[in-house]
Amino acid sequence: MKKIGIVGTGNMGRVIGLALANKGYEVFFGARDLSKAKFASEFDNQTKSGTNQQAAAFGDIIYYSPRDIHPKKVLDNLSVLDGKIVIESGNWDISDQLDAEEIKISKTEILQQQLPNSKVVKAFNTILQEVFEYSIKDLKSYNIACFIASDFLDAKSEVSDLSSDLGFTTIDCGTVKQAVLLEQMGSLIRILVRVNKNPWLSFSLTDLPEIKDLHFGGRTASALHGKTEYLENR
Ligand SMILES: NC(=O)c1ccc[n+]([C@@H]2O[C@H](COP(=O)([O-])OP(=O)(O)OC[C@H]3O[C@@H](n4cnc5c(N)ncnc54)[C@H](OP(=O)(O)O)[C@@H]3O)[C@@H](O)[C@H]2O)c1
Repeated sequence: MKKIGIVGTGNMGRVIGLALANKGYEVFFGARDLSKAKFASEFDNQTKSGTNQQAAAFGDIIYYSPRDIHPKKVLDNLSVLDGKIVIESGNWDISDQLDAEEIKISKTEILQQQLPNSKVVKAFNTILQEVFEYSIKDLKSYNIACFIASDFLDAKSEVSDLSSDLGFTTIDCGTVKQAVLLEQMGSLIRILVRVNKNPWLSFSLTDLPEIKDLHFGGRTASALHGKTEYLENR
């Protein structure tokens, strides 16, 4: 089983680490405040805890949660992340008036620039921490989407396996450039929680069976939408 290093054991780091430990992954919780890493590791005595640097060195795959904090401020030696997959789930703040911030460059793309020798993957940002409380059987039956984006196909494949192991349906959304869209979805889910006063929500994508015998004329050429390459490539 792959080793997982959690850099920044807050809410998401703790639940993702514990869910992976439940599935048999080796997990090391790291934090700047050692008591927070220890708190997480006490839920599963197979896990370890210590500093962020130790977690980064331990993991083959790193979950990095200190949002908007340059890794050089979190770790003493960044070279331990070279060649490794670094997952991040950063979302944006929502104002009291429910205004979402305009996103020009994603948090994923910034982290990839800060860690040019690592393979940064956006994942889990539309999945609220509460959702990890469900059993894997329930998660599969709810068909909860884990949207991912990265420039590295091999990294996406590994994160896809990891997300499937946790019970999610992985949806590959393309390169790191598409992480902007996932962060907008992150803003949307946060707004939905506030509007509905309910954190037990999630996104699903339904793969529908194709209808061959179309009754309403199908897609015709459109000056508005340009080509329908996806149909031509089927
Ligand atoms: N919670 C959710 O349901 C959820 C769902 C999807 C996505 N997200 C996103 O996931 C990310 C993490 O969220 P979270 O809920 O886990 O937040 P959190 O509970 O506040 O955890 C953040 C972690 O980052 C660490 N950190 C913050 N500033 C740091 C610094 N200067 N140096 C070192 N470590 C630092 C914190 O350490 P300390 O505890 O010592 O401050 C903590 O371990 C955010 O971008 C959030 O938007 C959250």
